[in-house]
Amino acid sequence: MTNPKPAPAPLFEAEVIPGLESFAIQELRGAFGRKVDQVKTPRAGFIRFRFSGQHIELRRLRSVIAVYQAHLFPIPRPKAFLGHQHFARLTQILTKASRSFDSPPRSLGIAAAGSRSAVMRRLQKELLTTMKLAPAADGKGELFMRMLPNREAPGWEVLVRISPKPFSARDYRRVNMPGSLNATVAYAMTADKALGDKATVVNLCSGTSTILIEHGLTHPQHQLLAIEWKTAALKASERNARASGLHTRIQHIRADARRAPLPCGAAARLYADLPFGQLVGSHESNVQLYPSILREAARLACDDAAFIVLTPEVNLLRRSLKQSPWRIVNETRINLRGLHPRLFVLRRNSTRI
Ligand SMILES: C[S@@+](CC[C@H](N)C(=O)[O-])C[C@H]1O[C@@H](n2cnc3c(N)ncnc32)[C@H](O)[C@@H]1O
Repeated sequence: MTNPKPAPAPLFEAEVIPGLESFAIQELRGAFGRKVDQVKTPRAGFIRFRFSGQHIELRRLRSVIAVYQAHLFPIPRPKAFLGHQHFARLTQILTKASRSFDSPPRSLGIAAAGSRSAVMRRLQKELLTTMKLAPAADGKGELFMRMLPNREAPGWEVLVRISPKPFSARDYRRVNMPGSLNATVAYAMTADKALGDKATVVNLCSGTSTILIEHGLTHPQHQLLAIEWKTAALKASERNARASGLHTRIQHIRADARRAPLPCGAAARLYADLPFGQLVGSHESNVQLYPSILREAARLACDDAAFIVLTPEVNLLRRSLKQSPWRIVNETRINLRGLHPRLFVLRRNSTRI
């Protein structure tokens, strides 16, 4: 007699900033090894995988916006969700998800294909009543699920978020300013671990220091310097740094990033999320700023330092690079709410300026 095939591990879907899929897959595999299997990227911004660990372990992920557990309902159309058997299964799934939260959710959000149809409206009403939850004011709420026709097999799929808020909404984010960077993008900028202990890391134009905080949380040994000229941004950064527990490690320096008060060759890694003229700065001022920042970063960099830059001003950056000692070694295009910034990894050419 042959042994029955073991049931496959539960199926999950991670939502990521489009363009950052490879960073998220690298983090998933690095953090969970063989517990992660059948990893696929079915479309931009989504990664599907089977996971054999405890699903709350997935809340450790820093490169993803949110993770959902996927459940297949072999039903021809959404009306069948209202039938006793499927409705009971749906409420069980939601109850189980909410029990894994630190405190019981207060609101339920449903994003569904055909959400305005009479059937979906009735389903939503019945779920809210049965689960004793309020409708989500922001559309998502604390307990959040997506419902859509399944792409791989006949039926519908219910995707239930495994956390009461997205992972990208970091607890340390006490102050958000126009231009504050999405934390999962900041994490991706810092994902390269190839830096020795005690390295000095400099963030030019640091704003609220999202990049330095993400760096500091995963690299406990490094000295972190934030260079920013706006007092309000520095104050916001100090509050966020305190909430992250990194306030003693991040040194805030109020200065023009084109003339940082630091010695030559001080930095083993540099970061900049450059102003790009929509929320912060203007294209005209960037034409002056970008070449100056590249020059100053080259002065601050030690010989094998990388400079990791985020900007949607791709042509301007490329033009500015021609007159600088930096070259592009890696480039990732991302989609940030309709903007298409690029994440550049720059290395210095060997001759010093
Ligand atoms: C896109 S924002 C950085 C946002 C940051 N990554 C965050 O998460 O908050 C660019 C920052 O550069 C600062 N900045 C622009 N020009 C500067 C300069 N010459 N020296 C120092 N800071 C500058 C702006 O004040 C702004 O805070």
